[in-house]
Amino acid sequence: MTYDILEKYEMVPTVHLMKIRAPDVAKAAKAGQFIILRINETGERIPLTIADFNVDEGYVTIIFQEMGKTTKQLAKLTTDDKLQDFVGPLGQPSKIEKLGTVVLVGGGVGVAPIYPQAKAYREAGNKVISIIGARSEDLLILEDEMRNESDELYITTDDGSKGHHGFVTDIVLDLLEGDEAVDRIVAIGPPIMMRAVAGVVEPFDVETLVSLNPVMVDGTGMCGGCRVLIDGETKFACVDGPEFDARKVDFNLMMSRLGLYRPEEAEAVEVYEKECESETGCGGGCTCQ
Ligand code: NAD
Ligand code: FES
Repeated sequence: MTYDILEKYEMVPTVHLMKIRAPDVAKAAKAGQFIILRINETGERIPLTIADFNVDEGYVTIIFQEMGKTTKQLAKLTTDDKLQDFVGPLGQPSKIEKLGTVVLVGGGVGVAPIYPQAKAYREAGNKVISIIGARSEDLLILEDEMRNESDELYITTDDGSKGHHGFVTDIVLDLLEGDEAVDRIVAIGPPIMMRAVAGVVEPFDVETLVSLNPVMVDGTGMCGGCRVLIDGETKFACVDGPEFDARKVDFNLMMSRLGLYRPEEAEAVEVYEKECESETGCGGGCTCQ
């Protein structure tokens, strides 16, 4: 079985949105879960948090950034192509409940997995305050969608080109120091951002969750590739997570593990770009097939 690509476009430079026909995945999907896809039979398996899903129309939306060889290949696909595998939903769904005021923090491409959470927390009757941040205005994604699903929306850019000039953590701190009680914070983005959010919330008594994206292989708890240390205990992000209590995560260990395969990833990208993006093309039989 293969999976049709129903829609595909570049949202901002190097960040792409893809809608995949996968009715069974859409029917079972919940906010916070992820899928694993493979482009072709010999391809790498890549995990991506679900950005949206539509049960009636039977599709799942994913949003990804070109980073390694596989995401660069994925970015080249069009609606004429198909995916070999699209497995999910995987992982534990977010524990959506009526709490009061929920602050959602999305950094960079992490705004994509925050979007279904905004919808779900709102539907559950919460006041949703969202903070979305990017390096600059031209890299900001899902602004209108997040505005529609939030009672309040704050925008931050590292260069000050839109909204608050600074990091998402500046607004988190302002809110925590303000008059309004915050019942839960959910933060998703680059590990360095999630670690910074965990640091900011430390002196406050507010439940804070982060969604971890360590290296994953099978996504079913068998390979151990995604192990993370939570409160001194080994957990598998793919089956025990991906959401964990921010204050219990050993971010330094997770970040050093994420860096383990960086030299191989860089080499794969270099070979891919040299062979497959050359003017003459690879002519078949190389690593892009
Ligand atoms: P980025 O580097 O552009 O950062 C996005 C925002 O995060 C910044 O605008 C800033 O507000 C905040 N931030 C960054 N560094 C910070 C710091 N030191 N302190 C406080 N706030 C900080 O983000 P990007 O390039 O989109 O990030 C891509 C990364 O996000 C990849 O590593 C990807 O794997 C990860 N990601 C994770 C998930 C997930 O599920 N956890 C989902 C999507 C992407
Ligand atoms: Fe293999 Fe989680 S990805 S155990």
